[in-house]
Amino acid sequence: MRTDVWFVRFFRAAGLGLLATATAFAIAAMGATAQTAPTQAQVTFTKDVAPIFYRSCVRCHRPDEIAPMSLLTYNDARPWARAIKERVSKREMPPWFLDKTLGIQKYQNDPSLTDEEIATIVKWVDGGALQGNPADMPPMPASEDITTWRIGQPDLVIKYPTFKVPARGPDLYGTLDAPFGTAEDRYIKAIQSRVVDGSSRKVVHHALSYAVEPGDNADGGDDSGGGSGLFLVEYASGKNATFYPADAGLLLPPGRNARVSYHFHSIGEEVEAKIELGIVFYPKGYVPKHIQWSKQLGQEAATDIDIPANSIVRRDGYTRLNSAARIIAWQPHMHIRGKYQCLELIYPSEPVKTETVTCARWNYNWHTIYNYDPGVAPIVPAGTLLHVISWWDNTTNNRFNPDPKNWVGAGTGRTIDEMGFSWIGWYDLTDEEYKAELAARKAGPAKDRPATGASAALSEARP
Ligand code: HEC
Repeated sequence: MRTDVWFVRFFRAAGLGLLATATAFAIAAMGATAQTAPTQAQVTFTKDVAPIFYRSCVRCHRPDEIAPMSLLTYNDARPWARAIKERVSKREMPPWFLDKTLGIQKYQNDPSLTDEEIATIVKWVDGGALQGNPADMPPMPASEDITTWRIGQPDLVIKYPTFKVPARGPDLYGTLDAPFGTAEDRYIKAIQSRVVDGSSRKVVHHALSYAVEPGDNADGGDDSGGGSGLFLVEYASGKNATFYPADAGLLLPPGRNARVSYHFHSIGEEVEAKIELGIVFYPKGYVPKHIQWSKQLGQEAATDIDIPANSIVRRDGYTRLNSAARIIAWQPHMHIRGKYQCLELIYPSEPVKTETVTCARWNYNWHTIYNYDPGVAPIVPAGTLLHVISWWDNTTNNRFNPDPKNWVGAGTGRTIDEMGFSWIGWYDLTDEEYKAELAARKAGPAKDRPATGASAALSEARP
C-alpha cells in the first residue's frame, strides 16, 4: 500500500514531462494496483470523503476548535491525508473507543465510522487524495450542528472567575465561585461545562461543578465541592456532554452559587484559565418525572490499585443499586496507564445472571461519555450490582506510559497516579415503573433490544 501511494505521488509530481524511468515505475505501479484501481479512481474528497468528515470530524476539526487542523475544505484536509488514513484505520479518530464486538452498540450522537467509511477514506488517500468535482461538495454544516455547546444554546452561561496558572509549579487544586442568579426552583434539562480557549485547555486537568449554598466556605478538597455541594457536571480533557433523557432533570434550588472544583497543571508559560458552565432549563414551574443522577461508581477498584513495573493489572469495583433504575450514560475513568474498562451488570436473580453492557479502550486524552440510545439503555431491577472492571498497562506497549520501570499506585490527585471507576448517569425507578418500562421495552421493536440479549436476562431477573 505504502509503495502504491509513493508511486501515485511520484507520478503526479512528475507531471507531463515524464522521464522514461518514471513511466516505467508508473506502469509498474498501475499494474500493482490494477485490482483496486477502478474504485480508487472514483473516490474523491468532494463526493465521498467530505460528507464523512462533516458528520464525524468537523465539530472539532474547524478553526478555533480543539483539534489542531481544520478538515472543512479540500485544501485544509489534503496535507493531512496520510495522518488521516493512519488515525481512522486505527480507530483513534474520531475519539470513540467503544468495543464494537460486545455489549450495547447503539448510542446517541455516535460519531464513529463504519468499516465502509474507513475503507472509503483509505481508498481516497491511497488513490492520491483527489479533490473531485467542486460541485459535489456537501453544504457546510449548520453552525448549531457543530457548536462547542453540545447541549444546544444554553439558557444560562456561568463564567467562572479567570484563574492565572503560573508558568511553573506543582499541580493546583481549589475552587472558584460565581452566582447562578436564579430566584426559584429550576430543573436542569441539560448541562455542560467547557473550557473556553486553546490555552485554557492545556492547563485544565479537570473541573467539577457544584451548586453550593452561598457562604459555604467548606473546601472539602478535590472533588467534594464543599459541605452543601450538589454535584452538577464534570469537565475533563476531551469530554463531551451528558444528554438527559426526556422528562429527567436535576433540581437547582434558588439562590445557589456555582462552584467549580479545579485541578490545573502548569505548562511552562503563564495561562489564564477560563471555564464556563452552560445550562438548559425546563420551563419555570415544570417538574420532570425523574431526577437524573451522575456519580463516580465502582470506586473500590480504585482504592487498592497496585501495579508492579512492566505489568498489566486488572481491578474490580462494585456498587449496588438500591432502587430499580434506567442507566443512561457511561464514562470510564482512569489515568495514563489505563487500557480498557468494562461495565457489567450482576442481576439479583437466582441463579445469578451477569451481562457485559459496554467495554471501551481507554485513552486519557478523551473522557468520552457514552450515552445509551433510549431504546436500549439498560433497565435494571433493585439490587443490581454495577461491576466496573479496569485494566492498566504499565508496560512499554502503552505509549502514554512515562516510566514502565516504576510501580504505580492509587491516587485521587496527581495525573501520574492511577484511578479506576465509571461515571454512571441514571435515574431511579419505583418497582412499578421498572415493570412498566420493561413491559414497554419488550413490546417495542426487536431491533431496539440490546444486542447482548439484555432484555431476556432482565425479564427473568427477580428482585
Ligand atoms: C471530539 C473532537 C474530535 C473529533 C470528532 C475528531 N478529532 Fe481528530 N483530533 C482531535 C484533537 C483534539 C486532535 C489532537 C490530539 C491528538 O492528536 O489526539 C486530533 C488529531 C487528529 C489527527 C492527527 C493530527 C496530527 O497532528 O498528526 C488526525 C489525522 C485527525 N485528528 C483526524 C480526524 C478525522 C479524520 C476525524 C473524523 C473521522 C476526526 N479527527 C475527528 C479532535 C477530534
